Parts: sequence; C-alpha cells; structure tokens
Amino acid sequence: MESCPPLLPDDPKVRIALVTGGSRGIGRAIAKTLALEKLHVILTYRSNTEEAKSCVSEIAQAGGSAAYALLDVADTEAIRAFFAGIKGANLFCLVNNAGITKDGLLLRMKESDFTSVLDVCLKGTFVASQEAAKLMTKKRTGRIISISSVVALMGNAGQANYTAAKAGIIGLTKTMARELAARNITCNAIAPGFIETDMTAQLSPEVKAQYISQIPLRRMGTPMDVAHAVAFLASDKAAYITGQVLSVNGGMYSWSQDGGYDVWYRWKSAKNHCRSAGRWRCQCETRGVLRRGSRRRFPRFDRAYHGHWRGIRHRNRRRGRSEDPESAGCRCLYRGECEGFEGLG
Ligand code: NAI
Repeated sequence: MESCPPLLPDDPKVRIALVTGGSRGIGRAIAKTLALEKLHVILTYRSNTEEAKSCVSEIAQAGGSAAYALLDVADTEAIRAFFAGIKGANLFCLVNNAGITKDGLLLRMKESDFTSVLDVCLKGTFVASQEAAKLMTKKRTGRIISISSVVALMGNAGQANYTAAKAGIIGLTKTMARELAARNITCNAIAPGFIETDMTAQLSPEVKAQYISQIPLRRMGTPMDVAHAVAFLASDKAAYITGQVLSVNGGMYSWSQDGGYDVWYRWKSAKNHCRSAGRWRCQCETRGVLRRGSRRRFPRFDRAYHGHWRGIRHRNRRRGRSEDPESAGCRCLYRGECEGFEGLG
C-alpha cells in the first residue's frame, strides 16, 4: 500500500469520505463532488498513480481537501491493512465504486473470469464495508454507498459474472442497512444505467446507438449524473433513507418493470391467501379487508382474473370448516403483511 501524505486531514473533526476506484470515471466525479461538500476525500486506485495525483490536485485547486492511496479491493489483506492504517479516523462515508467487467456468454465464461469480477465488485464491497462499519459504529454515524448497476436489476446477456456481482451488492446493501441502522449508519446502492466512461468506451458505435435508443432521455449518462446522486445520499438530507437502490439511468429501466410486477404479484397472492384464510377462520389480522374491498371496487376484474380461484376457495371452505388453520399448517408468507396491499385492492 502506498499513499500520498497526508492521508488524513489535520482537523480530526473533519468528516472523511473514502472512494474506491476514485481516480477515473464515475469514481473521480464522486471524489470531486464529495470534496466540494466539505468532506476530506481519500480516493483509492489500483494502478495509475498519475490519474490519482491529477484528481487530488484538481480537488485542491477547487478548494477541497483530498489524498490518494493505492489499494486493490480484490485483496482482502490489503483492505484490512489500509483500514488499520486509518484507525480512529472520522470516516463518515464509504463509496464502493471500484468495479471491472470481463464479459462473455455463460456457456463460454471461464471460472476465473467469473471469480475475478466477483472478487473486485462484490467481495471488495463486502470487506471494505465491514471494515468501514467498524469505524463508523464507534462514531454512531455513517454512510455506505455502493455502486451497483442497472444490469443487476434487468440482467444482461454476456455479463453473468458482472450481473451476479452487482445484484449481490443490492442484497448486501439491504442486509447491511438492517444490521447497521441501530448505529445510525445508512446503506444504499446506486444503479447507474449506461454511463460515458472508460468502461463503456470500448463498446462499438452500433452497440452504443442501440443502448441509447432504449433510453427515454436519449443520451448516455455522465459520471456527474451518478456523482450527484451519491452526494445526495451522503448528505444530511438523506439521513432517513436506507436500504434503497437509486436508479440513475435516464429511464432505461423503470421501477414499474420490476417493482410494479412484483407488487402486483404479491398483492394477488396475498389477496388469494386472505380469501382462503378468511374461510378457514385464520387469525390473519386483516382477513376480509381485501376480499370485501376488491369485490366492491373491481367486480369485473375480480371475476376475470380470479374466477378460477373460486373453486379452490370453495374446496378450502369445505375442507377447512372444522380445521384450525394453525394446526392445518397454514404457512402463509403474507401474514401480518397484508395491510400493505389494502390500497391496491
Ligand atoms: P472505470 O473502469 O472507468 O473505473 C473503474 C475504477 O475501478 C477505476 O478507477 C479502477 O482503477 C478501479 N478498479 C478496478 N479494479 C480495481 C481493483 N481491483 N481495486 C481497486 N480499484 C479497482 O469504470 P466506471 O465506469 O467509472 O465504473 C465505476 C463503477 O460504476 C463500477 O463499479 C462500475 O461497475 C459501475 N457502473 C458503471 C457503469 C457505466 O456505464 N460506466 C454502469 C453501471 C455501473
């Protein structure tokens, strides 16, 4: 590990932001933006010292404070050694930005390409977050922001390794958010779309044009588009936001495509459960609410979509009349959660 002095600010009260892979592309924009927000930025890089130096001097020229350090996030020991070196520092924000791609179709992808992408993108995020959380826990405040990707949500042919890693980041973020909330540490992910950086520069003009045609805002994103979202999540204004995935993709992949379907499906399942649970005299707190509401409000919809459930419900009624749902082994996933679906009925 090499670093430029001074790695830490003179004033120990100044908040520190650590940006992995911060020497170029999105990471560089994030480092510069956070420095303008009066955070002391430590940006880490893997190989190009000149890029890291130039970023730090640009920040200094703009009146900010920054330092750089060589750190390979695929190397767990190096990450632990780095954090041991800044023990006691006022680390407020960690941005897990470092990432690589090694694309290939599933049937041809080498195991080494799969694991190396996971090592950098996912394991690096895990180890750095774990170490950062130890420091933040002591200060009882902090922000962990991890850069995922739109392809984690939608999948992408040729990127089994990358999509797995970036989807893993989302799961990791949501779990960290739950575990660290009691320590006032928020954890969020950002899912950028198609951003103009070295990573996408290798794509042919035809492929780029094809991607852009799928983006409602009809342009590639810029690193600053992502950096602004990171700055928001790192700010005090986002103190009540945790466990979320913020898409920065020009509308390329919208919430309704995944969340909408998911909510609809869960609502449908919950509704059907509540109906049969009601017949079973299940103790489900909200039983009956969905049944009554949906029938009154959408009788035709109800008949068209759920007519086939009637037979099952009637069979359930006959079978369950004398049965206690608990002893009958009612294993509803939605018990106690049904309130959330009420408005949709
Ligand atoms: P980039 O290739 O320009 O920058 C990646 C950065 O990660 C570089 O600074 C590089 O030195 C660093 N890095 C790579 N391997 C490392 C390692 N083992 N240890 C430490 N640092 C390492 O890529 P870009 O576009 O700036 O991407 C930044 C992040 O945004 C990545 O996580 C990427 O997956 C993600 N992303 C990028 C999108 C895009 O369209 N450019 C879209 C969605 C997500």
